Amino acid sequence: MFNIAVFVSGKGSNLKALFEKIDKEKIKIVAVVSNKKNCGAVEFANQNSIPVFFIAEVSNDEFIDYKTLAKKFFDLNINLIVLAGFLKKIPDEFIDLFNKKIINIHPALLPKFGGKGMYGMNVHKAVFESGEKVSGATVHFVDKIYDNGEIIEQEKVDISDCNSPDEIAHKVLEVEHILLPKVVNNFFKSLQ
Ligand code: GRF
Repeated sequence: MFNIAVFVSGKGSNLKALFEKIDKEKIKIVAVVSNKKNCGAVEFANQNSIPVFFIAEVSNDEFIDYKTLAKKFFDLNINLIVLAGFLKKIPDEFIDLFNKKIINIHPALLPKFGGKGMYGMNVHKAVFESGEKVSGATVHFVDKIYDNGEIIEQEKVDISDCNSPDEIAHKVLEVEHILLPKVVNNFFKSLQ
C-alpha cells in the first residue's frame, strides 16, 4: 500500500476528489495536515477518520512544527505529499527531506500566473484581466521557489465564455478535481 499525506488550508474539494478517485487498492490517505484548525478540509478528514495534524512554523499546544511532522511522516512511511489548497510555503529543510516527493496543484497553466501571492481568486482575477481564452490547472513538484518546480501534468479548459473570475474559478476547479487524482494514481503506477 502506498501512503500519502495531504496538506490543506481551505474547503477541501481537492482532498475530497482525491479521497473519492485514488485507487484505494494501492493508495491510502494516511494523514491530513492543515495550518487551520477549522476548515472544510479538516471537517472532511474527521468525517472520514483520516488522522489530522495541525502545522505551524513554531509549535504550540495544538500545532506541531515541521521537524516533528517529518518524524511522523517517516514513521507513517509516507510515499507522496500532496499540497491541495495549502496556502503556506513549505520550509526548505522539509523539502530537502522529501525531495521529489512533494507535489502541488495550482489553478492556472504555469509558468504563467504563478509565484508568491498567486493563489485562489488572485490567480483567476489575473487570468481574467489578461484576456486569456484558455486557463487550466497544473500539478508540479514543489521546490524552494513558489510554483517553480518541474511540471508533471497540466489540463486546459476553455474560458472564452467566462464573464468573471468566479466563472473561471468554477471551471478550473472542476479540472483540478480530475487532474490531481489522475496524477497521483499515475505517480504510483510508475513505482510498481
Ligand atoms: C483551489 O483553487 C486549489 O487549486 C488551490 O486552492 C483552492 C482551494 O482548494 N490550490 P480546496 O477546495 O481547498 O481543495
